[in-house]
Amino acid sequence: MSKRTVLITGGVRGIGAAITKTLLAKGFKIVAPTRAELDLSLPSSVEAYIAANRELPIDILINNAGINVLRSIVEIDENSWQSMLQINLNAALRLTQAYAPGMQSRGWGRILNISTIFSLVTKERRAAYSMTKAALNALTRSSAVEFGPSGVLVNALAPGYVDTALTHQNNSPEAIAAISATIPLRRLADAEELARAAAFLVSEENTYLTGQTIVVDGGFTCQ
Ligand SMILES: NC(=O)c1ccc[n+]([C@@H]2O[C@H](COP(=O)([O-])OP(=O)(O)OC[C@H]3O[C@@H](n4cnc5c(N)ncnc54)[C@H](OP(=O)(O)O)[C@@H]3O)[C@@H](O)[C@H]2O)c1
Repeated sequence: MSKRTVLITGGVRGIGAAITKTLLAKGFKIVAPTRAELDLSLPSSVEAYIAANRELPIDILINNAGINVLRSIVEIDENSWQSMLQINLNAALRLTQAYAPGMQSRGWGRILNISTIFSLVTKERRAAYSMTKAALNALTRSSAVEFGPSGVLVNALAPGYVDTALTHQNNSPEAIAAISATIPLRRLADAEELARAAAFLVSEENTYLTGQTIVVDGGFTCQ
């Protein structure tokens, strides 16, 4: 059983909750701040959280929380763009800056950024989401290069369509049925299936996989 300590954002719902449950069962200690404790949309909240929790011995950081405000390119407004940039990218960068040095000094660490297939392919009205998540993949590669020599492995996990509130919010039931028909495995993923992949990537069993964006999409992007 692992005694490693994990900090996960958005760990109380959706994919994050499934990752939390899976890691708890494997004996990891989980720090999963609620939005009241850490509101990623507010730089002041991120800075206050880091200042108050700088000494937390975080071995594993999972930047999971994310939002997807659907807009066509010509409709992207400043507010939705800034919140997506802040939550999906800036907050992940700030938490990486805050907790990677501790991992480096202890000589072991794992960072996992929850990305999306839309960082690699895209769909109409996903431009802002795609841009922020593609940048998150870039942060993943840069982090792997900079922190690798200190034993810190960094990856991104890119889910396809997962059966969560976010998916139901952005797709009608008819759209979800139509999407399922286009996935080689003919169904959305369960959050637990993402959690199992995440658990491997942040574990001690993962000793050489770093800097990658791992797609878990039932074969959707192979077509
Ligand atoms: N669902 C999918 O099909 C899918 C596919 C590909 C990638 N993803 C990615 O997977 C990650 C998790 O998505 P999900 O589907 O599990 O989403 P979800 O069910 O909507 O949950 C999102 C989580 O992020 C948290 N969050 C959102 N805004 C926040 C903020 N301002 N401050 C702090 N926490 C905030 C939410 O906290 P509250 O509980 O406080 O609202 C919630 O725990 C995201 O990065 C998403 O882009 C999802």
